[in-house]
Amino acid sequence: MSLASPVPIGIFDSGLGGLSVWRQIVRQLPDESTVYFADRAHVPYGGRQPQEIRAYSEAICTALTEAGCKVIVVACNTASAVALHHLRERFPDCLILGLEPAVKPAVAITRSGVVGVMATPATFQGRLYRATVGRHAASVQVVEQVCLGLADLVEAGDLAGARTDALLLSFLQPMLAAGADTIVLGCTHYPFVIEAIRRLVGPDVAVIDPAPAVARHLGSLLHHYAMQAPAGSACHRFFTTGEAGQFDRDALRLIAVETASASIPWRVLDGSEGELLPPCLQSPPRPF
Ligand code: DGL
Repeated sequence: MSLASPVPIGIFDSGLGGLSVWRQIVRQLPDESTVYFADRAHVPYGGRQPQEIRAYSEAICTALTEAGCKVIVVACNTASAVALHHLRERFPDCLILGLEPAVKPAVAITRSGVVGVMATPATFQGRLYRATVGRHAASVQVVEQVCLGLADLVEAGDLAGARTDALLLSFLQPMLAAGADTIVLGCTHYPFVIEAIRRLVGPDVAVIDPAPAVARHLGSLLHHYAMQAPAGSACHRFFTTGEAGQFDRDALRLIAVETASASIPWRVLDGSEGELLPPCLQSPPRPF
């Protein structure tokens, strides 16, 4: 199987969440081409066993490296927490960036000394998260909030309304009650409900979406390794292990981009069932 394209950046997530990272990368690095991979056949990853998440991530990275990706962004905190070390060992020739909850910037701005982190169970269990907290958060209290069902809500497009508010409040209240004045979105799905979160916590609580910082870091790495794409050559392609039409409708609603995705059944990732290339998006994405 091939997803071939000139030196694209591979970006993957269990589903739509990584699009919050994709849109920042496209905003900040408009000349870069991307291949976005959404493993919607297996979303959510957050409650799965580490070995399962590692196997999915490895198969996706195999496809992305075969597609010639020079860099892979694991646009999923859960996969990063569980599989990043493994992926770096397995693909030593590829630059692999992971996402870790933005605890460091949160510690820098908290005034109350209490930081809340919203993430999936697997992210909190992963050694990446423990290492991040150990390194950066010794001076503050970190309140960990497992947000079961929140990624599913975003996948289903329930970004606003009474049901979403009620679920969000059940996650936010324990952190606020503990005195948190800074909340970290530790899952790439959550920026799609950041407006609702900000409304519920009020103006005195900072809510951190790590995606802009990830895109900045990616930009400096590309610069450092002289891997930047030539101007005017950007092309963006989207693949899903779910249903392509559904992905396109959902992505349009979330990021206002016509993704023209292709569906790749999971079994194709394991074997070789031919090439499946959706049309390259020649026109620039619409404003979002
Ligand atoms: N978007 C993912 C993350 O950043 C995962 C959500 C899930 O699949 O459970 O953690």
